[in-house]
Amino acid sequence: MNSSDSPWQSDVSSDVSSDVSSDVSSDLWSDLWSDWLLHTRHANDPEHERVLHAELEHYAERVLDGARLTSGMTLADIGSGDGLIALRAIDRIGPTLRVLMADISAPLLRHAETLAVQRDVRDQCTFIQCSAEALKDIDDASVDAVTTRAVLAYVPDKLAAMREFHRILRPGGRISIAEPVLRDDAFEASSLKIFVDALPPESEDLFFRLLHRWKAAHFPDTEDKIAANPLTNYSEASALSMPPTP
Ligand SMILES: C[S@@+](CC[C@H](N)C(=O)[O-])C[C@H]1O[C@@H](n2cnc3c(N)ncnc32)[C@H](O)[C@@H]1O
Repeated sequence: MNSSDSPWQSDVSSDVSSDVSSDVSSDLWSDLWSDWLLHTRHANDPEHERVLHAELEHYAERVLDGARLTSGMTLADIGSGDGLIALRAIDRIGPTLRVLMADISAPLLRHAETLAVQRDVRDQCTFIQCSAEALKDIDDASVDAVTTRAVLAYVPDKLAAMREFHRILRPGGRISIAEPVLRDDAFEASSLKIFVDALPPESEDLFFRLLHRWKAAHFPDTEDKIAANPLTNYSEASALSMPPTP
């Protein structure tokens, strides 16, 4: 997983209005996700932010390669964050591309909208505050491509999200996804827990106890917790085999 993706919490909500802020760095309205993407993940360090963005651009390019956008298409980027993928798509295709940016975070939508205004591409963009599981205001069969990066990992009902992607795609449309797959790491944490729990009380082994504590600080370490956590309750195979229709 890219450690730059997670504030380790998925219950973000916001009731902020969707007005455009004139100041991209404004802290007037924020939520967990906007705090993470716009500040915490680079520790408010401009140099670290530059390095991070260069790395993220690489992921964005790969996702967009998969979407195979062409002139005149409509793209829906779900969990659009600070606009990394959607704005890059406009850079690639130019003024004929229409993009829908959907995200649960109103502050991030406002941030992306401000960037779109600054780049003079606001007219090509629509901003929609909603969850991936219920893409309200996006019509059936209305987009040519769906992209999403580091978003489904935080969505509890991934199947519902997949169904929504399928619903909004035109026949023959494309979906391009990049998600961290963390289940194996969690299985490692749970194996370590089983091992450490089985150590005799008098054991002086510190290495495996410490290794388990370190792993468990990052990942759920029991089967129940793994199954209950949206970050770890799927594998590459299970994500790919989700049936798109009810
Ligand atoms: C790690 S960021 C990735 C942002 C962007 N996709 C990128 O590639 O930089 C996760 C994004 O998903 C959004 N998000 C989290 N849960 C969501 C949900 N259930 N539905 C839609 N967006 C969600 C967050 O607000 C945040 O913008």
